[in-house]
Amino acid sequence: MRIFKNIADLKPFLSQKKEEGCTVGLVPTMGALHSGHLSLIEQALVENNFAVITIFVNPTQFDNSLDFDKYPREIDADTSLLSHFENKICIYAPELQDIYPNGIASEHFDYGGIENEMEGKFRTGHFDGVGTILKTLFQHIKPNKAYFGEKDFQQLQIVKQLVILENLPIEIVGCPIYREPSGLAMSSRNKRLSKEQAEGAATLFKILSHVRNQFGIKNANDIKVWVENEMLKSAMLTLEYFEIAEENTLKPMLELENDKKYRAFIAAYAGEVRLIDNIPLN
Ligand code: PAJ
Repeated sequence: MRIFKNIADLKPFLSQKKEEGCTVGLVPTMGALHSGHLSLIEQALVENNFAVITIFVNPTQFDNSLDFDKYPREIDADTSLLSHFENKICIYAPELQDIYPNGIASEHFDYGGIENEMEGKFRTGHFDGVGTILKTLFQHIKPNKAYFGEKDFQQLQIVKQLVILENLPIEIVGCPIYREPSGLAMSSRNKRLSKEQAEGAATLFKILSHVRNQFGIKNANDIKVWVENEMLKSAMLTLEYFEIAEENTLKPMLELENDKKYRAFIAAYAGEVRLIDNIPLN
């Protein structure tokens, strides 16, 4: 398994792979890898002959410098976790200079409005930073397909918009959320939770599961009030937002329309650690 730090070395390697007839799947990550990331890589290898895993904690998508500073960085552990994929994958873990040669700044993107909902309201500039890094990775690597988790469902929709906006011939594939046995969605940030916080954070999935059961029985507003009350009972969690939204526009549901798909989305803090999760409702 090769590890690249420079695009100048990665490009000829990938050209060779493509000349050999390989299709390339891309799995972008910020490292501190867990089974959720591994499930994306496995999917990429089902659908392609070769996969590129990128590991880069992207500064422009963090609106909170504490979150950026404390984001877990574990490149040695990540490398050994990926070693069993052997030569079916390579790692691209670029230096800052490789991605931002002209200084650390975001490009601004108009994703048609979905960037202004939920995460967009609470994390200023986040999706500009995500678009900036992914546009660069897509241009450098030119994958056939790229893999993203439904864990970050809004990000998945943003990336689908990005490839349309930039006219890139890349298929974006969404993959299901991988969870701990407790129901807690796996996340690199979970490594920062205490044992008690991790146990308390499992409440998020319990709440989302209850919401799914109530969907179509109670109206969205009553469900929202119920969630807010449940979250107040939690000693470990502070609610940032809860929303039931339509999957494509990500706008809050007003009335149930039978031909539309809806999801419930939640964001909460456990201490300093911000957690997000979502669940399909119909
Ligand atoms: P990161 O949080 O490392 O996640 C990398 C990919 O793994 C994302 O597509 C994310 O949705 C997916 N993922 C994370 N937890 C998951 C889980 N429990 N189940 C399934 N998939 C999961 O998302 C980012 O990094 C960054 O924003 C990035 C796209 C790399 C751009 O910097």
